Amino acid sequence: MGRLDFLAEEIARMKEQGTQITIRTISSPQGAWFVADGKRVLNMCSNNYLGLANHPALKEAAKKAVDAYGVGPGAVRTIAGTQTPHVELEQKLAEFKGTEATILLQSGFQANAATIPALAGEGDVILSDELNHASIIDGCRLTKAKVVRYRHNDVGDLEEKIKAEAVARRKLIITDGVFSMDGDTAPLPGIVEVARRHGAMTMVDDAHGEGVLGDSGRGIVDHYGLVGEVDVEIGTLSKAFGVLGGYVAGSTVLVDYLKQRARPFLFSTGISAADVAACLAAVNLLLASDELVKRLWENATYFKSQMQQAGWDTGKSQTPITPVMVGDEHKAAQLSKDLFTESVFAQSIQYPTVARGKARLRVMISAAHTREDLDFAIEKFNLCGKRLGLI
Ligand SMILES: Cc1ncc(COP(=O)(O)O)c(C=O)c1O
Repeated sequence: MGRLDFLAEEIARMKEQGTQITIRTISSPQGAWFVADGKRVLNMCSNNYLGLANHPALKEAAKKAVDAYGVGPGAVRTIAGTQTPHVELEQKLAEFKGTEATILLQSGFQANAATIPALAGEGDVILSDELNHASIIDGCRLTKAKVVRYRHNDVGDLEEKIKAEAVARRKLIITDGVFSMDGDTAPLPGIVEVARRHGAMTMVDDAHGEGVLGDSGRGIVDHYGLVGEVDVEIGTLSKAFGVLGGYVAGSTVLVDYLKQRARPFLFSTGISAADVAACLAAVNLLLASDELVKRLWENATYFKSQMQQAGWDTGKSQTPITPVMVGDEHKAAQLSKDLFTESVFAQSIQYPTVARGKARLRVMISAAHTREDLDFAIEKFNLCGKRLGLI
């Protein structure tokens, strides 16, 4: 028996339960169509909401930044100094979000890991939506605070639970803005009200709201007219912005503190100048026009309505994230495989990413899709779904 045999046993068990993830290899740029495992397929699974991941303006900005700054930042920003594009992007993102300041991190995941331990510690309580993203869950685990999970999107339950924590030194409420597996949005106005009544800080992870919700994609806080009312916003640059990285938006004091104490900022090298320059170009595009955001929504509305008419259950999504609910893990994996054979890449999502028995294909609509692309996907979904007896 080898010392790591238990891992092989675990993987065999995943295979048996239909929960083993298949990772396909992409050998072309992101776009409405791309090459996965050597096959040209319609891309229905990336978070490239606005089609910016291969946009000429972003590529040009990145190339220029490589010429100006090289490829690596040298070391963490507090040790080797911070490059000009990083500072420019932080200012531009603050302008975009309508906050005093922002701080760039390596990813959205790291932004949560950086922020939550800065806000809550021993004697404090964190109230966290039960369906919050894994990076929020892990961020909470990095603190010594008590973590209380409230029922998904249930403001009443949140209030009950926060009342029971009256003795806590500080209270922090954290929610995803858009829940990434179902596409539903957090009831932010109600959460902000509860926070106000109970003196709690509020933090929203806007990973799937940016570029999607609000004026020109400013996110869920803007969408609900709550600019200035939410203490902390977490953003990612890897989804609608089409590049890589994460950030925290909020007050100057929050950002100043994170620069002194946030461990992912102090102990891990930042993203490259090329990534940053591409992100800057993305924000500039959004500041100049909301055309891509509008196209994204038109596409999402069309796809959802056509799928529903064909008999598919597309869950309770309020955003372009379109879960095509299947339930059984094996059937969801089979549907994904069959679609791939028909040149559509729509990834099946199963436990542990979602609850057991709630397997689905998570279809991600993009502004890059044409009406013909969407019709192609719908035709193939219907063909494969009928064969499997799903519709
Ligand atoms: C709600 C939420 N937060 C954070 C992240 C992580 O973002 P990143 O990929 O930039 O680390 C994701 C991505 O899946 C997400 O959905």
